[in-house]
Amino acid sequence: MIKIRVPATSANLGPGFDCLGLALNIWNEVSFESADKLSYQVTGEGAEKLNKGVKNLLTKAYSLVYDIYGKPMSGAEIVAHNEILMSSGLGSSAAAIVAGLFGANEMLGGQLGAEEILRLATNMEGHPDNVAPALLGGLVVSVMSEDQIITKRYEIPELALVIVKPMVDWPTKTARAVLPKFISRIDATHNIGRAVLVVDALRNGDLDLLNKVMDDRIHQPYRLKRIAGGLAAYKTAKRFGAVALSGAGPSIISFASTENAYQAKIEIAAVFEERGIKTKSIITKPSASGVHRVS
Ligand code: HSE
Repeated sequence: MIKIRVPATSANLGPGFDCLGLALNIWNEVSFESADKLSYQVTGEGAEKLNKGVKNLLTKAYSLVYDIYGKPMSGAEIVAHNEILMSSGLGSSAAAIVAGLFGANEMLGGQLGAEEILRLATNMEGHPDNVAPALLGGLVVSVMSEDQIITKRYEIPELALVIVKPMVDWPTKTARAVLPKFISRIDATHNIGRAVLVVDALRNGDLDLLNKVMDDRIHQPYRLKRIAGGLAAYKTAKRFGAVALSGAGPSIISFASTENAYQAKIEIAAVFEERGIKTKSIITKPSASGVHRVS
């Protein structure tokens, strides 16, 4: 039997649409054991939804690695305890994919390298910005070229990260469908320089710079206005410093100072609650580690 942990991730980080992602100190723990048939049991976040059957992203990724090794996957007992909120913009699907690929690779002797796992994970997810930090930890810039995914990983200092999820229905499919197919040169220019500066600000823990540059014109304006309370919550979070929609949303991620983090959490959540929208909130920090074995 092996046991692994895989982190939540926050993608985009404002202007870095589909390119930037940060691993968070929120974990799903999954154990894998050889068995005659496939079983999958979950406790924690999403248990009700995930315990309905054995067909899901994690088991699909797990089987894929057995196919690649050319070994029939006769069965496995997979048990997960999930802390990553689902449908939140915290990379729960990326975590499931990475857990399945990494878990199967470990069960089979670990012949696939991180680059191959990243390629498989990106194929399944469609973009690398969540799967790359879920694998590598830290802050990761990733770009897709024709035949490979180019990544650069950075360590970042400890920061307080305030995450507030409004309990609204906001599937990633919808969040991508609301985006325009084309953007103007002005908007592209707006984002390019800021994305570079977001990386610099995070690497140096420079919250003042982050606050000045964590702004986006490619996805947030189109998404925030469609999420009930989204724009108002964003504005409230902005009073505490840098803020972004986490991934495709609906969670808001605020980079308030450590001293203000608790107050930021209360005030951002209140914006949704005042509108009758329940919330789940977490104060966390970045994780330097990505997926890894615990036993
Ligand atoms: N970069 C992706 C998006 C993350 O914003 O749609 C969510 O999968």
